[in-house]
Amino acid sequence: MDQQQILIFDTTLRDGEQAPGFSLRTDEKLQLARQIDALGVDIIEAGFPIASPADAEAVRLIATEIRRPIIAGLARCHQADLDRVAWALEPAERGRIHTFIATSDLHLQAKLRLTREECLERAVESVWYARQKTDDVQFSAEDATRSDVDFLCRVVEGVIAAGATTINLPDTVGFSTPDELRDFFVTIRERVPNADKAVFSAHCHDDLGLAVANSLAAVQGGVRQVECTVNGIGERAGNAALEEIAMAMHVRRDRMPYTVNIVHKQIFESSALLTRLTGERVQANKAIVGRNAFAHEAGIHQDGMLKDRRTYEIMRAEDVGAPWNPMVLGKHSGRHAVQQRCTDLGLDVEAGELRDVYRALMAIADDRKVLTDTDVTEVVNDVRAASAAAGAPSDAHA
Ligand code: KIV
Ligand code: ZN
Repeated sequence: MDQQQILIFDTTLRDGEQAPGFSLRTDEKLQLARQIDALGVDIIEAGFPIASPADAEAVRLIATEIRRPIIAGLARCHQADLDRVAWALEPAERGRIHTFIATSDLHLQAKLRLTREECLERAVESVWYARQKTDDVQFSAEDATRSDVDFLCRVVEGVIAAGATTINLPDTVGFSTPDELRDFFVTIRERVPNADKAVFSAHCHDDLGLAVANSLAAVQGGVRQVECTVNGIGERAGNAALEEIAMAMHVRRDRMPYTVNIVHKQIFESSALLTRLTGERVQANKAIVGRNAFAHEAGIHQDGMLKDRRTYEIMRAEDVGAPWNPMVLGKHSGRHAVQQRCTDLGLDVEAGELRDVYRALMAIADDRKVLTDTDVTEVVNDVRAASAAAGAPSDAHA
């Protein structure tokens, strides 16, 4: 693998879909998987087959229909889970078994009631068992970032020796900071003797709003696979947002000179499809895909934008396949923006007329947040009618 290649592992259909309000029917999962394939991701985690027969069928259907990316299925370190994933992935062109167990003392004691030694044994046995079924096995150490580092190194070494080809170390509860996570991956990769035999992966949750920053820092710590979801959906505050990672790496390739296979122009449609299927909208100011992400209302900003888009834009809506109608007219808009919107609507207003149109629109905007194109057209027509009634030549504005 090219050392600068960053694999994008999409878990919208697994970590994302398991969050409240985001569950999908099988046909909807397939529709979304097709769009995520068009987005160019390298791996699609299609579900958690042991969770229900419907989940297993959905993973199998996606593995049958979607041929380009690797299709992954999640399994706990239990034979029954691993068998179910192996069944679901049978039709895949390239399938990956993704098995996980928690490694932090807190999870081992409070949740799994296992000793560290039992955990290590179960992890190694499960990876070995999974490798009897496929060559592509990913191991995740749940709550890795709150685990004892010496113990975690032993687990990672053991599962690589048993055949794991990808090692994912999740920040399961979104507790890490970027500098800490970068150092964490550097340390683990330095201390595990067979670390060079596996691809390291980050899976960051957004409890402190740091998931994307943490994922990018992990890449700087040597990670070559990043797990993320469309719109950042996922357990609790969600996972790292795929669109933010992809565009950060694209816009700031001067600082992050990596290769990522994402088709940027498919970003907006992927986000919109997810919203249509789940009915869960993204916040208006969400980076990249929110409805205000490329909108400008303040007069100074609109004026700058009309003179040169680069004044207030570091990327363009068109780059991510979003419709571009950036000038939100409201009470902060300047005359220049109002004039431009009139021109866009085919209403060429003269300087004298513009003053009256502007004044009338701002009076409406005082009561309302946003002015629509209908408001603009009606106001221009009213101003023209008033000036015609006052005796101005009727064809002056034709
Ligand atoms: O957050 C997490 O730890 C996970 C693992 C199962 C990969 O989702
Ligand atoms: Zn997760």
